[in-house]
Formats: sequence, C-alpha cells, structure tokens
Amino acid sequence: MSAAHGGFVGIRACVFDAYGTLLDFNSAAAGAADTLKDRASRLSELWRSKQLQYTWLRALMGAHAPFWQVTGEALDHALAALDIDDPALRERLMAAYLQLATFPEVLNTLRQLQGAGMKTAILTNGSPEMIERACRHAGLDVLLDAVLSAQDAGIYKPHPDVYQLAVDHLEVPAGQIAYVSSNAWDAAAAAHFGFRVAWCNRYRQPPEHLPGRPEAQIERLDALLPLLGLSAVGADA
Ligand code: LAC
Repeated sequence: MSAAHGGFVGIRACVFDAYGTLLDFNSAAAGAADTLKDRASRLSELWRSKQLQYTWLRALMGAHAPFWQVTGEALDHALAALDIDDPALRERLMAAYLQLATFPEVLNTLRQLQGAGMKTAILTNGSPEMIERACRHAGLDVLLDAVLSAQDAGIYKPHPDVYQLAVDHLEVPAGQIAYVSSNAWDAAAAAHFGFRVAWCNRYRQPPEHLPGRPEAQIERLDALLPLLGLSAVGADA
C-alpha cells in the first residue's frame, strides 16, 4: 500500500465511514473524564469493541436492532465490566454520542472535496437520527451530499448490501467511489465489495487478514486529497 501519489483516478464520489473516521468516538468518554477519571480510555475501548461485536453477533443471530440501541447495550456491558453503576453517567455518555468531536482535519478536507466538485457521503452503521444529529452538531451536514445509514439495508457492515446503498443512492459505480474508513475490517470489506479504498489508519493498527485489500493507507483524512490528485489548502488544526 502507498499514499500520496494521485493513484485514485476516475473517482466521482468519496464515501466515508462515520465513527472513528470523521467523528471521534473517544471524545464521548473523554468528555466525562471528570467522573470516569483514569477509566475513560478503558471504558471507551470496551464500549466501541462491544458495539461492533454486537452488530456482527446480531447479524448472525438474525436479530437486527437499531445502532442506537446496540450502542446503549454495548455501553451497559462496558459500564458493568468496570463495575460502574451510574444511570446519570450512562445518560451523559449516550448524549455525548450525539455531539462527538470531529478529527481536526475533517471539516477542511470535506470543504476541499466539495469545492473540487466531488460528491461526498457518509455510509454508516449509525441509525438515521443518531448520525443526523451528530452531523448537524459537528457541522458535517452542510458538507455532504448524503448521509446513508445501514438501517436501510437491515444489516450492518461488512455485509455487501450496506456498501450497495452508496452505489444505488449516488448512482456512481463502485469502481468510481473512493471509500475511506479507519476500521481495517471495514476497509477490507469495502475493497472486497469493489470500492477504491483508502484505509485511514488513525489508530496505527496492523492490517486485518480478510478478503479485500485497501489500495492506500493514510493516517489523516487530508492525505486523501493528493491521492485524488487534489492539493491540500489550509488546515483546521
Ligand atoms: C460506522 C462505524 C462502523 O460509522 O464506524 O459505520
């Protein structure tokens, strides 16, 4: 994998994963560090990993539920695992999930893509209301052509029906869509589906050994611009 050589040619749309790619899910627990103290990062890690596991387990069980519900149930597990019984804290953390911070370079990168005439969209597991509220709060709503939820496919990533939502909605073939995710498993699955994928490896994880290989690996979202042959101008941070 390589980055920053303008290798993505013929791209007509950029589609982004939301949580962990545009929105910093760790900012929810970090915002409650006054109560969580040194347990904030452990709670966040467990919350996120259970959230994802529950989506996959529910898919295998044939027991789909909205991502908002799954996120709450994952939080309940994480709080119990850390011996925390605090309903007010639970409520605060769930509310914070609707007001997550964006990573510093995100807004400026989306602005530049929009300025270059690129179609842009989010494709997320997030339930429609949950992701719409987070996007409005972060100011992402005005920078995106579409916010697409896996809820319309009735199953979660990495099921191909979810990736197909972007092809159908944007009316752009998979091979002309650049897909960006910080989740290695999502990046692999999206490449397997047929998207042109840049894995935004914010968390410096090792690659997953799954079908599908991202074509590029970047560490920040703005590194997508040179891949598309666009030059980065200015910065948020
Ligand atoms: C999403 C999760 C998987 O936004 O990050 O779909």
